[in-house]
Amino acid sequence: MGIRGYAGEELLRILSRHPDAELTALSSRVEERVHISCLFPWTTGIVDLYCEDYTTERISNLADIVFLALPHKVSMEIAPQILRYKKKIIDLSADFRLKDLTQYEKYYEKHKSPELVKKAVYGLPEIYKEQIAKAEFIANPGCYPTGVLLGLAPAIKNKLLDTNRNIIIDSKSGVTGAGRNLKEEFLFSEVNENFRAYKVNSHQHIPEIEQELSYLAGSSVSVVFVPHLIPMNRGILSTIYIPLKKDVDAFTLRSLYREFYKNKPFVRIREVPNYPKTSDVSETNFCDISISFDHAKNLAIVITVIDNLVKGAAGQAIQNMNIMFGLDEKKGLL
Ligand SMILES: NC(=O)c1ccc[n+]([C@@H]2O[C@H](COP(=O)([O-])OP(=O)(O)OC[C@H]3O[C@@H](n4cnc5c(N)ncnc54)[C@H](OP(=O)(O)O)[C@@H]3O)[C@@H](O)[C@H]2O)c1
Repeated sequence: MGIRGYAGEELLRILSRHPDAELTALSSRVEERVHISCLFPWTTGIVDLYCEDYTTERISNLADIVFLALPHKVSMEIAPQILRYKKKIIDLSADFRLKDLTQYEKYYEKHKSPELVKKAVYGLPEIYKEQIAKAEFIANPGCYPTGVLLGLAPAIKNKLLDTNRNIIIDSKSGVTGAGRNLKEEFLFSEVNENFRAYKVNSHQHIPEIEQELSYLAGSSVSVVFVPHLIPMNRGILSTIYIPLKKDVDAFTLRSLYREFYKNKPFVRIREVPNYPKTSDVSETNFCDISISFDHAKNLAIVITVIDNLVKGAAGQAIQNMNIMFGLDEKKGLL
């Protein structure tokens, strides 16, 4: 559902090539039924389906799993209707990610399906694979949180953080992160040859990052987060400054990251100074990570890159689908 959006189109691209998935219904608020190749000419000869404004009842009868590539505040009305038909859901919106409803209400609005928030499993496979395998309902992580959490998880889980100092996260995103809707600030002439920060330390992904870091740490963790918009279509690069306890050295830190991501096929630890670039992971489900170290300041500088539409949205959703159905998590993604 929401096939006309950027995340919906990316789901279509990956699912149309997935060896074990069959696309059965494409839904969007179109005025009348339209062949998908009229909306996306690249699907000609690849996907022979019509896009319709399906009811949740019809779509539930046609599918084993429904992807909600809908805006936040919309998913929370649709998800309960589909769950009633006992169908699996992967929701790409933010509606079911935050377990603390007061945080949700602070950044969005009053939740319309609060009883379902606990049911949704946070779909970051590198941390929650076992829970995802048993889940019926996945809250797929946000794009910024995906790259940021993967960059921080090994340090936090191994309790290396100097809790007297702040974690500082500086992230840059391409323009598809804002969705395919018309807004003046995302016009070509506003974005091209331009570079700006926005929502400085007030972005709606902050509570999601803090929630997951706090679960990993077993105590409350807060971050300073500044997102930026860069003139490119896809990709997020996050530079994360992690204050460390005094007894941690670069060798130990890199070894811990390698160990943490052993057997996690979509996270690659890079050799410094081979710092990751967004183009290295474009149109892939990889998250590449480099770890640098300032000994004098006891500071790790971790750089992560993802494609916001793949590991940050549709690719991660399909990785979750694979795990939910007992398939190899790499299916359709490598
Ligand atoms: N873009 C990213 O990088 C990214 C990354 C991670 C997560 N997400 C999340 O994924 C979701 C989709 O993002 P996107 O970037 O694909 O957004 P988008 O390009 O704006 O697409 C949203 C889709 O939802 C449909 N829609 C809009 N309002 C609706 C309503 N009231 N009722 C039903 N359908 C409605 C849209 O219109 P039509 O019905 O007209 O087709 C469109 O197909 C969002 O929740 C977003 O936060 C996005």
